Amino acid sequence: KKNSNYDRYYSLMEEVQKYFGEILFSKQGILGLEYLKNRGLDEDFLKRYHLGYAIDGWNNIGDYLKEKGYTEQEIFDMGLIKKGEKGYYDTFRGRVIFPIFSPKGKTIGFGGRILNSEKSTAKYLNSPETKIFTKGDNLYGFINKGSNIRKNGFVMLMEGYMDVLAAHKNGFANAVASLGTSLTEKQASLMKKYTQNIVICYDMDNAGRKAVERASIILKRYKFNIRVLELSEGKDPDEYLMKNGKEKFKKELRNSIEIFDFLYNYYIEGINLNDIILKKNFIYRFKDFFNSIEDEIEHSIYIEKLSIA
Ligand code: CTP
Ligand code: MN
Ligand code: MN
Ligand code: MN
Ligand code: MN
Repeated sequence: KKNSNYDRYYSLMEEVQKYFGEILFSKQGILGLEYLKNRGLDEDFLKRYHLGYAIDGWNNIGDYLKEKGYTEQEIFDMGLIKKGEKGYYDTFRGRVIFPIFSPKGKTIGFGGRILNSEKSTAKYLNSPETKIFTKGDNLYGFINKGSNIRKNGFVMLMEGYMDVLAAHKNGFANAVASLGTSLTEKQASLMKKYTQNIVICYDMDNAGRKAVERASIILKRYKFNIRVLELSEGKDPDEYLMKNGKEKFKKELRNSIEIFDFLYNYYIEGINLNDIILKKNFIYRFKDFFNSIEDEIEHSIYIEKLSIA
C-alpha cells in the first residue's frame, strides 16, 4: 500500500518538473530564460538539465497539479504548496527552478532562485524535507548514476547549483553540490561508492573555508584523499569559469592543495609560532582532523608534517 502512495509522489514530482520546464520556454517564463541565458547557460543545456521556471503567482502549481488529478494533501506532502490563512498557495513563486534528482534519477525536490537579488526574500529556496526528499541524503549534479565521477577518478564538491551547472557545462561533469547544507555522512558515503578522491571547490570566503574544515573531518572518516581548490578570494567556481574559462580552471585544479596544507595555511594566519601558547593552540586546532584519521601510516605522515612546524 505504501508503495503505491510513493509511486504517486514520484509521478507528481515528475509531472511538476515537466511543467516547470515547459513554463521556462513559454511566454510566461521569459524572465527566467533571460536570466539563465545571462548566466551563460544555453537552451540546449537548460533542457538537458531540466531547468524550469515558477510563475510569480499564488496558485499556478497547485491548480495545475489538481487538474492532473493529485489531491491537495499530496501536493502539500511534496512541499509544493503551503497553508495560509486564505487557503493554499504555491511554495515556489517567481523563481528559476533547479530540479534535484535522487541517485537513481528520480525527481525528488527543487531549488529555486529569485531573479534579482534586491528582493528581500531569500536568494535560494529549497523543497522542504518530504516523504521522498531528505536534503542530506542527496547531492545536486549527481547524474548518470555516478559514471562521470568513476570515469574521472575523482569528484568535485561545490557549494551551489550554479557552480555545478557551470562546471558541467565546461566539461567537469564530476561536480556535485551538497544542497546548501553542510556535508553529511550520507553524502560522503554516496560519493565513496564511486571514488576515494575528492577536490573540495567551495567558495573561498570565510564561510566557505570554515565549511572546508568541517567537511574534511567527515571525508577523512570515509578515508578520502582530499584536495582543496583555492580560487582567489571569495570567487566561486561559477564566477571563475565565467571570467577565466575552462583552461585556467583546469590549471587551478592541477594546483589544488592537499587538505593538510590547506588547514595549515588556514590555521596559521596571524599566528606567531615562536610563542608557545599560540603554537599549542595552533596545534590543537588539528585535533578533530587527526582524530578522524584511522590509517596509522597516514596519521604519522601528517604528524611528521606538523612536528616540523
Ligand atoms: N543556499 C541556500 N539558501 C540560501 C543561500 C544559499 O540554500 N539562502 C545554498 C544554495 O544551494 C546555493 C549554495 O547554498 O547554491 C551556495 O550559496 P551562495 O554561494 O550564496 O550562492 P551561489 O550559488 O553562489 O548563488 P548565485 O551564484 O546564484 O548568486
Ligand atoms: Mn534527463
Ligand atoms: Mn557561498
Ligand atoms: Mn555564485
Ligand atoms: Mn557562491
